[in-house]
Amino acid sequence: MVNLKIDNQDIEIQEGATILEAAKKLGIKIPTLCYNDALSPYGACRLCTVEVETNGRKRMVASCLYPVREGIKVSTNGDRVIKARKIIIELLLARSPDVKVLQDLAKEYGIEKPRFSLKKEDCILCGMCVRVCTERLGIGAIGFEGRGTTRKIGIPFGLEESDVCVGCGACTYVCPTGAIQMETKALSKFRQSFGINERKCRYMMMGVVDYKLCPNNYECWRCDIDQRMEETFGTHPALAVKKTAEKEPIKVEEFLIEPDLFYSAGHTWVKRINGRLRIGLDDFARRLIGSIDDIKVKNINDEIKRGEDVWQLICGRRQAAMHAPIEGKVIDTNIDILDNPKIISASPYRIGWIYTLEPYNLEEDMKKLLFGIKAKRYLIEHSNKLHQRLSSIGVTITDGGQIASALHQRLSDKEWQELINEFF
Ligand code: SF4
Ligand code: SF4
Ligand code: FES
Repeated sequence: MVNLKIDNQDIEIQEGATILEAAKKLGIKIPTLCYNDALSPYGACRLCTVEVETNGRKRMVASCLYPVREGIKVSTNGDRVIKARKIIIELLLARSPDVKVLQDLAKEYGIEKPRFSLKKEDCILCGMCVRVCTERLGIGAIGFEGRGTTRKIGIPFGLEESDVCVGCGACTYVCPTGAIQMETKALSKFRQSFGINERKCRYMMMGVVDYKLCPNNYECWRCDIDQRMEETFGTHPALAVKKTAEKEPIKVEEFLIEPDLFYSAGHTWVKRINGRLRIGLDDFARRLIGSIDDIKVKNINDEIKRGEDVWQLICGRRQAAMHAPIEGKVIDTNIDILDNPKIISASPYRIGWIYTLEPYNLEEDMKKLLFGIKAKRYLIEHSNKLHQRLSSIGVTITDGGQIASALHQRLSDKEWQELINEFF
């Protein structure tokens, strides 16, 4: 457990919770736009900014991403926080002046007119729609495109109409600005892709009902089930119910592993997606590295050899290179983690993925990875080894037997490098 103060109130909460969760437990309301507790935190809007004081040093952080730490003091409504929040609201309002939720926030914070030049965007790029579609539906019908001023939400691969969207409306439901509207004609490709007797009800695809075919040609407004769903759950069903196919991460010692992924001995994971491979770092690596400040990655089209340095993580003044679990060509890099590397620490298995690769020797390389019980055994072995290693160099393990946070600050350069060489 971790003890901290929020707005001068003491709170004890489990390690790994965020400041936002701790504040909620105390009944302190911090405004958010890109947060939903059914989705991974993303840190896009910064509206939840608070001030954190650690050993007399103060800094502003996004409370939805920032984990609680022993002894910190948090201010959610001090002068600096309010000033920062006002600027954030001004910037958002300048981008999307017609959006009601931003107009209401501006009113609440006494902002009459933004000082910045006005645009006419509905979308604030909070990524809620992308996350709900990927994380809760497992579909990924929409995603971010472009960078900087050209960044927008779109259908992957430049398609005009998605052939995988099930029209569940979860993206519309979570969008805080109303930027996404459902057009049922846009489901024509999806409808055409099934024969009349194989049209699974979209609630079956979400894992809400076990078996049901759609008798309504996916015109859900004609269906009683659809009308009852939201009333039953009090929220969109995609947020209330986990996909049946979605397996919970498993706790192995103090680390989490996702049962459907393959793992390398150097603590990266690999997921097969339509003949391509997505890769990232596992929870063991995340815990060892701590909060990631920066990441150096390969370029698109770079070739990667199995075992070579594939990315470099930077935390404080320490660095850690990790090794490629397979051979292939980089065809995509997660631009979200380049913009905000803390996403890797917050969600290493999902929105914190790092590359998509075109593999060269898929079947051969996959055989060298660990899966299921083998992955678990390996993790137990490495967990024991890590504990022994840390106690041999005099690093205290926390009361719950967990690896203490911010290891990189507690080890000498030599100790750090030896640890990285041994485990990655
Ligand atoms: S309607 Fe559902 S499946 Fe389609 S993009 Fe939105 S969340 Fe994804
Ligand atoms: S469409 Fe809505 S939910 Fe999606 S990024 Fe834009 S504002 Fe956020
Ligand atoms: S709610 Fe935390 S950054 Fe948006």
